[in-house]
Amino acid sequence: MLALNDLVARVENENGEGKEIIKGLSLNVPAGEVHAIMGPNGAGKSTLSYVLTGRDGYEVTSGSASLNDEDLLEMDPEERAAKGLYLSFQYPLEIPGVPVMTFVRTAMNAQRKMRGEDEISAPEFLKKARELAKVLKIQPDMLKRPLNVGFSGGEKKRLEIFQAMMLEPNFLILDETDSGLDIDALRIVSEGVNALRSENRGMLVITHYQRLLDHIKPDKVHVLAAGQIIKTGGPELALRLEKEGYDGVLAEANA
Ligand SMILES: Nc1ncnc2c1ncn2[C@@H]1O[C@H](COP(=O)(O)OP(=O)(O)O)[C@@H](O)[C@H]1O
Ligand SMILES: [Mg+2]
Repeated sequence: MLALNDLVARVENENGEGKEIIKGLSLNVPAGEVHAIMGPNGAGKSTLSYVLTGRDGYEVTSGSASLNDEDLLEMDPEERAAKGLYLSFQYPLEIPGVPVMTFVRTAMNAQRKMRGEDEISAPEFLKKARELAKVLKIQPDMLKRPLNVGFSGGEKKRLEIFQAMMLEPNFLILDETDSGLDIDALRIVSEGVNALRSENRGMLVITHYQRLLDHIKPDKVHVLAAGQIIKTGGPELALRLEKEGYDGVLAEANA
């Protein structure tokens, strides 16, 4: 489903100079699977998610990236979103004046339009939003408040999952690296990820928290260091990293 082959990418700094961050990264996430990416700070984990979604200032210099055999690198960010690629923000946007419902409906309709589909009708949208809010234990009046303004950490997490589920992405990237998940937020995120698991959907969960993986049970765990995947294993690899840190795995990779 998501196929990255020997991907090399640079970030442009304020002076317009390029710095290579992703250095020949290959990764395959088949439909239906959840893969975790772990790695030391500065390894390039967040950069990878920005490169995949096509953020400004990130340039792929070689290699390939495709979603369902379609070349992602030829698409602009909106087209990638319309193909169902979704990145959940590490630092949720606050948008004063824009209610959650309006934001989600606008995003949904923009994607539908790109795909040549009709807009979702107001009643259909409301019904879907209400049902989902119930499942995720979101108070209905929260959906009328401006996006993320004054929301608690747990509320933001719940809304992040709400947005993802409303948009029904084909491929979901969650970057939880530095967001300081408390126990409550950990539970919300893992319940959300498990609810989003489906045979047609792939997920990449970027995390520092082995504990999150206890609840999510990833199919594979990849270690990203210095812009490359240096080791791949099952959930036991995350447990080993929790115990030993990254030093052992890094030393093996360099041996
Ligand atoms: N806009 C930028 N300009 C210069 N360097 C950057 C920029 N963004 C990221 N980097 C550098 O790229 C490396 C990887 O960053 P990042 O992808 O955020 O790491 P991770 O998410 O794994 O902690 C770091 O050394 C970081 O300083
Ligand atoms: Mg990061």
